[in-house]
Amino acid sequence: MVSDFAIGIHDLSFSTTEFVLPHAILADHNGTEINKYHVGLGQRSMSVPAADEDIVTMGATAAEPIIARHGTDHVRTVVFATESSIDQAKSAGVYVHSLLGLPSATRVVELKQACYGATAALQFALGLVRRDPVQRVLVIASDISRYDLDSPGEATQGAAAVAMLVGSDPALLRLEEPSGLFTADVMDFWRPNYRDAALVDGQESVSAYLRAVRGTWGDYTDQGGRPLDEFAAFCYHQPYAKMAYKAHRHLLEHCGHPTGEAEVARAVGRTTAYSAVIGNSYTASVYLGLAALLDEADDMTGRPIGFMSYGSGSVAEFFGGTLAPGYREHLRTTAHRGVLDRRQPVDYATYRELYERSFPADGGDHPTPPQTTGPFRLAGLRGHQRVYERRAPVSARSSAEAGDLRRLPHEGHRPAPATS
Ligand code: CAA
Repeated sequence: MVSDFAIGIHDLSFSTTEFVLPHAILADHNGTEINKYHVGLGQRSMSVPAADEDIVTMGATAAEPIIARHGTDHVRTVVFATESSIDQAKSAGVYVHSLLGLPSATRVVELKQACYGATAALQFALGLVRRDPVQRVLVIASDISRYDLDSPGEATQGAAAVAMLVGSDPALLRLEEPSGLFTADVMDFWRPNYRDAALVDGQESVSAYLRAVRGTWGDYTDQGGRPLDEFAAFCYHQPYAKMAYKAHRHLLEHCGHPTGEAEVARAVGRTTAYSAVIGNSYTASVYLGLAALLDEADDMTGRPIGFMSYGSGSVAEFFGGTLAPGYREHLRTTAHRGVLDRRQPVDYATYRELYERSFPADGGDHPTPPQTTGPFRLAGLRGHQRVYERRAPVSARSSAEAGDLRRLPHEGHRPAPATS
């Protein structure tokens, strides 16, 4: 069914972490030839959360500029998609709702299906807006990707949040029907409740992803979707940047199209600009790809973009969208680049120390060291409850508080900057 009004992404904003680990430092530590990371995975660096950052602070930071620009009128639903959830019962979105001061007349829910969750959120949002075109839905995808230290997955960690305002007559992207769907019960990547880091069968996960590319495309075609050559670019889920190239080459081959490097790079190259320096942001990643494409590409008004969202386990969806007239006036390119530029590089020891941090489960009072300079912080865990703070802008803080920002309580210093 095709609706008689356009629905899609009206605004999009992303955030990432305070710190960043260059892959050159990881390679130095574990003896890996750096081109395996730079060329083989297509990764230059990965975002590393500060002790007082998590999926809530990143999600609120991503969403705040959207609320500042559009207000809360007509936002009656917040869908928070994540696979690095902080609570088995309460939605991380409720904390964001509170930090952003959203009205009580809002429904808030958390969604999970590995890296596919944000696409499910987007599809739910479309249904809500179709039912009542005046309503807008705030979709937040926020994840911290975490694998065991010294495992092959370690180099594919990262963290980011993407916030999207979904509504009718969207300023950025008009989403289209049909969708191509694919589900297969496979153990390629999963995280049992008792583990902080994911378990993964790396090579099987790549094969499962590629099977899902074929599966979603087959269903998309069966449902009457566009021919492949109508798409100007493709946003794939990016566990690492090279996976987008691999996936698109696979799709071209599957469809009997030429698979030259230039053709593949033309279709996906610009979508990898942010994930190549942020790393895997799990369910945010495909929309981080969209942000990169919008910020990097020349005017693509009216051009169809293909999306392939893959969540291990596995559920995947292929769908299209077209860029709305005038979309470039609504982009946040400068802010997005600023989010990357403000990250502080850390050395390996600091990365490891941050990785190994965890809250005791004793119900005590466990404040976190103030490390992030962002607008929201996780102040600590008290009586088993996460405590969040909205911070005053840096210019409004006292000099004593500003001094605290540079100090780790246990050592008296902010993490050491990376030297290479
Ligand atoms: N110079 C250039 N390239 C090099 C190189 C060098 N010195 N050394 C290795 N390479 C290349 C390899 O040829 C290989 O390229 P291809 O993929 O084109 O074959 C690439 O670098 C990676 O090398 P390996 O496969 O040998 O690397 P690995 O054994 O360390 O595993 C990985 C790679 C499976 C992605 C691993 O990092 C991992 O398990 N990551 C986590 C899981 C993951 O990201 N899966 C992706 C699909 S699942 C998904 O998308 C969901 C999700 O978010 C998790």
